[in-house]
Amino acid sequence: MAGSNKKDMNQNDVIDSAKAFFTSFGILFLVFLIALVGSIIFPPQHGGEAQGNGGAPTANIDAAAIFKQNCASCHGQNLEGIMGPNLTKVGATHSADDIAKIIKDGKPPAMPGGIIKKQPEIQAVAQWLSEHK
Ligand code: HEC
Repeated sequence: MAGSNKKDMNQNDVIDSAKAFFTSFGILFLVFLIALVGSIIFPPQHGGEAQGNGGAPTANIDAAAIFKQNCASCHGQNLEGIMGPNLTKVGATHSADDIAKIIKDGKPPAMPGGIIKKQPEIQAVAQWLSEHK
């Protein structure tokens, strides 16, 4: 008799503490889930994947300024060309993706690749140049 009573108490205790355990962990787990889902829906900006979607990631990059710093020595302040070709109409024959590839890989023999390293900046300059036609 007394034995079985005691057992009941113990079971209730166990159930109560299990509930408390799962309630507090449930909240933690929920917070964790929200953070996880959030990072999946809004992934942190990461190089490589900005390709092609000429929009948000390049919006606040000053492509003209980047061009002047990195490219104008060969292509001219106004794209008029110096030792590199005139780029004022480059968008007529090259898509933004073509130009991004040239910026990344260069164009033999005299156009060096890898001058701009950050993918969003490459994309912004490529987009900006492709609008010159
Ligand atoms: C060291 C000089 C030099 C620098 C710096 C340079 N370029 Fe060039 N670029 C060239 C030369 C030379 C060519 C022509 C390559 C060929 O077709 O023989 C060229 C070709 C290109 C072309 C292809 C043009 C076409 O009609 O096919 C693009 C686009 C271009 N450059 C963009 C850029 C951009 C953007 C930058 C800055 C990140 C840059 N270049 C920096 C020398 C340079």
